[in-house]
Amino acid sequence: MAILNIVKIGDEVLRKKCRPVERIDKRICTLLDDMKETMALASGVGLAAPQVGVLKRIAIVDNGKEVLELINPEIIKEEEVQEGYEACLSLPGQCGIVKRPLKVTIKAKDRNGSEITVFGEGLTARAFCHELDHLDGKLYIDIASEMIDESGAE
Ligand code: NI
Repeated sequence: MAILNIVKIGDEVLRKKCRPVERIDKRICTLLDDMKETMALASGVGLAAPQVGVLKRIAIVDNGKEVLELINPEIIKEEEVQEGYEACLSLPGQCGIVKRPLKVTIKAKDRNGSEITVFGEGLTARAFCHELDHLDGKLYIDIASEMIDESGAE
């Protein structure tokens, strides 16, 4: 496994639309393993492939119990609304207030190519939306109602 470099805001790779994964091969599995290790080291709850410079529809989300591997994920259901703080490993030292669905159901493939349906509520639902947005070149700052600089500036 390897620690990958997390791309930061300003790099145009974060603004590109990712392509679907056509074939889940060893390279994809290695990418998933490396993304997991990279996210754990950065203490993140989610990471999308474009954040490590790969324009493929792959994301991982830590739901508190396990790290979900999402290949070609799609939101199939959204319920209720939450508003709260959101941050991104590609925008260190910042956070913003973002409205998201409270409950989100996702359909995706796992590394074995099996179709999975996963449900998330609260922070996990927020992470699902945030990471899937990354796959379309969208960042939370595009929809944040307010930004907060955590560097201590008033
Ligand atoms: Ni992010």
